[in-house]
Amino acid sequence: MKLNKGTQSPGHVLRRVAMSATAAAIGVTAVFGSGLVTTAHADSLKLTGIVLGVGANETQRVVSWYSSAGTAQVIQVAPTAKLVKGEFPASAVTFSATVAANSVNGGYNGHATIDGLKQNTSYSYRVGAEDAWSPTYSFTTQDFNGNNLDFLFFGDPQIGSSGNVAKDGAGWEDTLNVALAANPKAELLVSGGDQVETANTETQWDAFLASDKLRQYPWAATIGNHDVGGRAYEQHFWTPNTDRSAPYYNGSAATRSGGDYWFKYKNVLFIDINSNAYTNGSDAAHIDYITNVVKEHGADAKHTVLIYHHAIYSPAAHANDNDNKQRRQDFPTAFSKLGVDLVLQGHDHAYSRSYVIKNGQKANQDEQPGADSVVKGPGGVIYVTANSASGSKYYDLTAPDVTKDPNFGPDPLNPKSHWANSVENQEHVRTYVRIQVRGNKLVVENIRSSTCAAPNAAVELGQVKWCGPNNGATTAPAVGSAVDKVVIHTQDNKGNENKSAAAESDWLQ
Ligand SMILES: [Fe+2]
Repeated sequence: MKLNKGTQSPGHVLRRVAMSATAAAIGVTAVFGSGLVTTAHADSLKLTGIVLGVGANETQRVVSWYSSAGTAQVIQVAPTAKLVKGEFPASAVTFSATVAANSVNGGYNGHATIDGLKQNTSYSYRVGAEDAWSPTYSFTTQDFNGNNLDFLFFGDPQIGSSGNVAKDGAGWEDTLNVALAANPKAELLVSGGDQVETANTETQWDAFLASDKLRQYPWAATIGNHDVGGRAYEQHFWTPNTDRSAPYYNGSAATRSGGDYWFKYKNVLFIDINSNAYTNGSDAAHIDYITNVVKEHGADAKHTVLIYHHAIYSPAAHANDNDNKQRRQDFPTAFSKLGVDLVLQGHDHAYSRSYVIKNGQKANQDEQPGADSVVKGPGGVIYVTANSASGSKYYDLTAPDVTKDPNFGPDPLNPKSHWANSVENQEHVRTYVRIQVRGNKLVVENIRSSTCAAPNAAVELGQVKWCGPNNGATTAPAVGSAVDKVVIHTQDNKGNENKSAAAESDWLQ
């Protein structure tokens, strides 16, 4: 059985792994059907850190995990409707895993790509080998052809940042629970980077990956500055279409993790950048990568969403970091010319939503702060910075300071805010960003996933002194309420924007 024969390409033939071979590889002596008892047991193969990830498109998922042994492993998949009392049917499909020795922290990591998924179907899966299976998890696909797509964006869980891994993990798990209870049909969970505080500390990774929601909804990983200093990030997350060229690391690729990658999900092209290096040609290398991906795949998508960690229009502590100052010069014009619609960023642990920015300038001087509806127009880009999704650390908003960057001064319409940002917000409550793609519209909302009450580590531990909408407040609005909501109209007045044509004429020559 194939999950979907019709979409299989010759190079992507599903393989049913011969269980006898797999069993032999992990030291099992049984002969199936002979009456001998299989001697492999779960204790011999410890499978941890299982996480569902995005594949190259909506018909794929990638599952990554840690393993105690480097033996042959698989992922087994079947439509949930075919399972009988939790047992996988004989028609279940297996996909061979790539298993490799970890370069840090010992053990092994495995991953496999599930291919040929059908739309509107629930699947069950488990990883491991015969008689050494993980628990069974499930996920559900949705309509592959629709113009509607809901996905959720999470800023800096950064487990361990408060100094208390358990509290940070509790806040993170609660945000996932709250967000997915409110949005059960969300199709992707998108990372703003900084999954953990310390790149190779596995207790932090354990807390980050504790929620079964990360085995049910695909995580689109993004590397932050706290994840990049060791290899654990890429041991935990295998990502599709990944380029780890040396310029992305400013010459230190040997000890660093991540890379640039892309995937296309329904009518949206997602491009995810390792933004940790920016000097000595790194920004130009990233722009080259984005340019090539847009050139090759942009015409197939209605919208282009960029994701990276270091927010360039930061509203808080990082507003005038050197990388930001440089990137406000390096990135915006390129993004406008490439037809990028939305940029999702992290790093500043505070929320911002930009005005429509074209070639690094406010596109329409009349756009009002906090407008709930904007027309993007050709070359227009909206930049969003996500607040903390876990409560492990919040940064307070900062006043514009032209002595630090004369190009990031106050907004004439709202002088306490930076000129690029329509909304800047920090309440010391956990939030997440919901993006609803609705044809030519993108609806972006920043939604509270906590009040001031626990779990909210930075508040609990006294690391911030107030909580709520105003400095000095002690109470916050209800969970599920929106800090900000904007409808972005991506069509200009002349009709459909032709991104690929714009890119060809202006940028890709
Ligand atoms: Fe961070």
